[in-house]
Amino acid sequence: MSQKVTVIDHPMVQHKLTLLRQKDRSTNSFRTLLSEISMLLGYEVTRDLPLVYQEIETPLATMRAPLIEGKKVVLLNILRAGTGMVEGMLRILPAARIGQIGLYRDPETLGAVEYYFKLPGEMSDRDVIIVDPMLATGNSAVAAIERVKTAAPRSIKFVCLLAAPEGLNNLAESHPDVPVFTASIDSHLDEHGYIIPGLGDAGDRLFGTK
Ligand code: URA
Repeated sequence: MSQKVTVIDHPMVQHKLTLLRQKDRSTNSFRTLLSEISMLLGYEVTRDLPLVYQEIETPLATMRAPLIEGKKVVLLNILRAGTGMVEGMLRILPAARIGQIGLYRDPETLGAVEYYFKLPGEMSDRDVIIVDPMLATGNSAVAAIERVKTAAPRSIKFVCLLAAPEGLNNLAESHPDVPVFTASIDSHLDEHGYIIPGLGDAGDRLFGTK
């Protein structure tokens, strides 16, 4: 199976992404842009959610009208930078349930180490959208997907802002069944595992910790 990677090239996404990358952007502005882009990504990522038809009454007539089928979608936040995307996606999916996975990057091996994991119940009826702005080595994404798969949800998608080819290859090897959505595929990783040209450390820029 080959992995489906969708680059969301909508002009509004691309324009806002350029602003977000700029190094002198304030924390406030970075936060706002990340939220706005995530909302737009959320719109694209939910495009194929299944619908059911229900009879409703408008002020003038009854009709069979479409509603999203099944239990509420789960947004899985890869802590901590995923938090900035969850907030934006909630504007499209205000009733979504939110799972959390805490992974830190071992500075030596760049491998993902889990320190927290929580999902809602009844996962077999739910679609999961995993969010993390940066798909760099892909180790966090691979670990998060592995963990989510143990809960056997109806579907899993992975959404990021920027993807490095190295991270996409890693995901394609480990989880070719999980579609990936990104606003850009950047050039490569540097020796510290940062995406080039990228946007720096997404967590630090989002939380103003640097
Ligand atoms: N995580 C980040 O925040 N930035 C990168 O470039 C890579 C991983």
